[in-house]
Amino acid sequence: MDKLNAAITAVGGYVPETVLTNADLEKMVDTNDEWIRTRTGIVERRILKEEDKASSDMAVRAILPMLESKQIDPLDIDLIICATITGDYVFPATANIIADKIGAKNAWGYDVAAACSGFLYALQTGAKFIESGTHKKVIVVGVDKMSAIIDYTDRNTCIIFGDGGGCVLLEPTTEPFGIMDAKLHSDGSGREFLVQPAGGSLNPPSHETIDARQHYVYQEGKTVFKFAVTNMAEVSYDVMTRNGLSSEDVDWLVPHQANLRIIDATASRMGLDASKVLINIQKYGNTTAGTLPLLLWDFESKFKKGDNLILSTFGGGFTWGAAYVKWAY
Ligand code: UT7
Repeated sequence: MDKLNAAITAVGGYVPETVLTNADLEKMVDTNDEWIRTRTGIVERRILKEEDKASSDMAVRAILPMLESKQIDPLDIDLIICATITGDYVFPATANIIADKIGAKNAWGYDVAAACSGFLYALQTGAKFIESGTHKKVIVVGVDKMSAIIDYTDRNTCIIFGDGGGCVLLEPTTEPFGIMDAKLHSDGSGREFLVQPAGGSLNPPSHETIDARQHYVYQEGKTVFKFAVTNMAEVSYDVMTRNGLSSEDVDWLVPHQANLRIIDATASRMGLDASKVLINIQKYGNTTAGTLPLLLWDFESKFKKGDNLILSTFGGGFTWGAAYVKWAY
């Protein structure tokens, strides 16, 4: 039998309507628009304000229009993998809730918790289910409601993150398109530098953890920056070169949107012209697992069949990696 590849055959995305600008943040913490723009590249981000809505709802709003545009019945979906660190609950998995809400009654699913690298981890595992021939339609979601775990009195973190997410549909093809390669890494010794300290089994939620604001994201920005800038650049370069691609052969860099300076360093290590680097950090900030699918969604109309994309990321854990995707449509 011919080798099966996992092609991305559709993309979807969703960001909430409410916009939180740098000017808004100036009124909340001791910061300013100039500092945020020059240090991160962020101008505004979206916040999910609807009281009874969570990550699964943003995922549903990304998935349903995608399925509708392809005229795919949710009953035909085999598997949903949801990358998130802000699931609706600690358990059950958000993928199960998404499946219920979209009516994917024949699908099974699970969540992947790899922070900003979650979508890439989920994409790679989703691809394996397609390549093995056991699954025909896999939805990979990356979504985060970061506003649920951000301390809006902490200027180190609240200026960075936003809410949103996106998804892709993976289907088998015998043509040479799809997820061609991926190199993924993790290093748990970095866990203390970017972490939600309480709420898990180490520090279950209590009055003390709440008073200490440990249910919010803690980040030692400078340390994370140093690891991110080196590792995201190196892994992206590795994936490019081990697939025999030169900087001319790469059509698009799809980089995690954490900081414009990290993106620039990655593009520079790969020798890429700025015109090939996809950026939407100015509009959405860092949506954690949402950044990569949101880029695919925002820039879908630019991609041509056969284009070479390098997706790359770095996040809490530490986790990082890059994937080579040959665009299939
Ligand atoms: O997506 C997951 C992975 N995460 C990342 O990749 C994030 C990596 N880290 C970063 O992007 C950057 O470290 C930050 C954007 C978070 C911070 O930028 P930085 O250039 O590393 O700033 P810093 O933390 O070293 O702070 C520099 C100065 C400090 O003041 P002093 O000590 O020099 O007087 C901070 O107190 O800027 C101050 N500062 C701020 N000033 C205005 C820190 N945050 C702010 C702020 N507004 N929001």
